[in-house]
Amino acid sequence: MAAKRILSGMRPTGKLHLGNYVGVLANWVRLQDEYDCFFEVADWHALTTRYENTTALAQDVVDVVIDWLAAGIDPERSVIFVQSDVREHAELHLLLSMLVTAARLERNPTLKEQVRDLHLGENVTYGHLGYPVLQAADILIYRADAVPVGEDQLPHLEITREIARRFNSLYSEVFPIPEPLLTRFARLPGLDGKRMSKSVGNAVLMSDSPEQIRQKIMTAITDPQKIRMGDPGHPEICNVFAYHRKFNEQELAQIQNDCESGKLGCVSCKQRCAAAIASYLAPIREQRAELEQDPRRISEILDDGANRARQAAQATMEIVRQAMRLKRKNHGISG
Ligand code: TRP
Repeated sequence: MAAKRILSGMRPTGKLHLGNYVGVLANWVRLQDEYDCFFEVADWHALTTRYENTTALAQDVVDVVIDWLAAGIDPERSVIFVQSDVREHAELHLLLSMLVTAARLERNPTLKEQVRDLHLGENVTYGHLGYPVLQAADILIYRADAVPVGEDQLPHLEITREIARRFNSLYSEVFPIPEPLLTRFARLPGLDGKRMSKSVGNAVLMSDSPEQIRQKIMTAITDPQKIRMGDPGHPEICNVFAYHRKFNEQELAQIQNDCESGKLGCVSCKQRCAAAIASYLAPIREQRAELEQDPRRISEILDDGANRARQAAQATMEIVRQAMRLKRKNHGISG
């Protein structure tokens, strides 16, 4: 039996952080063993909120791809591609946009959050409203069986599933109804305890040097009740301990004990944490450095990915056009 197919994507936010790695990338890397994988950099999706200034977009795409590769996404086994390289997504997006009401898209909770957070008010564009339709096209054009996503993406996936069912019932059974593959993980807190995010400035990046890591970890907020060495700490509420848990398994029990007893102070705990993260990231950083020296290789990988993705996308579009009766019979002389 052929392996099931998955598709997932990320918007090009530039260099990725540890939360992206732990929450998403490490999972994608594992999924490659089991599934036929398509991984997409969703640059058109990025335009929904940053269409006014696109200067950095192309570099942000490359930075994301470098982090994917350095983390172990394998371009031989998986199809790694950039959304805008496969124009067929735009055609399917248009066709699917007929099958969903504006009211349904206005109810999308993710859109509501963005309208609130970015103070968009009446300035929501038509393209932004259609964000989930484009995402549906991304998924359905590869006839994916499943989509690995975090919980925040479930509303979008639900819209994809509705659109697929609608298409299947109106025309013919073209699309599998894609299942979410929920990634469950304890979310890695940012240095300030809030959700790790580059724009907030509370993130450790996968590409940070050991010195940058050390400087950042030193600013992390720890247990507010532990003020000086000797005070007993509460690792379960400490951001730095959350990092130890993920990146420093070896010393974990010791650190927990010594923090709780008061023997370990926050400064030396942070130094050990920074060292552990730096050594965890060392192989990734090495890979990254190599890839950064080799832009030709990145281009080749993305060209190859685009070709493989396009082939699959074109095959689906043939079926879609047939199903929707959009194909004229060919009465011409050329065959
Ligand atoms: N909306 C996703 C995000 O913001 C990115 C994305 C675009 C995506 N297309 C996708 C995710 C298709 C899964 C499947 O993270």
